[in-house]
Amino acid sequence: MPDTNVSIVTQLSDLFDAYGARDYGEHCTQYEHMAQCGWWADQRGCKEPLVLAAFLHDIGHLIAEDQALPERDRWGYRFHDSLGADWLEARGLPATVTNPIRLHVQAKRYLVATRPGYADGLSAASRATLAQQGGPYDAAACRQFEAHPGSADAVVLRELDELGKSDDFELPPITVWLERLRRFVV
Ligand SMILES: [Fe+2]
Repeated sequence: MPDTNVSIVTQLSDLFDAYGARDYGEHCTQYEHMAQCGWWADQRGCKEPLVLAAFLHDIGHLIAEDQALPERDRWGYRFHDSLGADWLEARGLPATVTNPIRLHVQAKRYLVATRPGYADGLSAASRATLAQQGGPYDAAACRQFEAHPGSADAVVLRELDELGKSDDFELPPITVWLERLRRFVV
């Protein structure tokens, strides 16, 4: 577990150094996936907090590795959404960043239930984890999700999540993302 007195950017840098190259059932590494999602967020014209949420949305998988948590499997850590959001929130990131991260798995369950054909476009890993995560929401759960103030951004993040899985994508070095985070947190 990183020391909370160390800057959040240093802690994130250490997590990516240690675990960013790991595979989690997709055709790209954890870092490649998260950086691609951040890139797509920029292309979509998202505001900075949502771009950073896209870049950090799966950080819970890396934290779970670092903490050697049980319940990790070939897809990563089942509760990576809440773990990542809690970890970032505890280090001062605002709800505009942490809410979409906290809700991005719920957004998948919502989109599968409400958007025709959405499930067909999911990667094999996303389909496998959907079942593990509880499957599509029922109507009551959909209404509850929609009522959450962060749900709209979480839906956008979930769309970016599925886009950022290419195995042929030229990415900037991680220092570009770390510098962007540094500017955001000061
Ligand atoms: Fe993801």
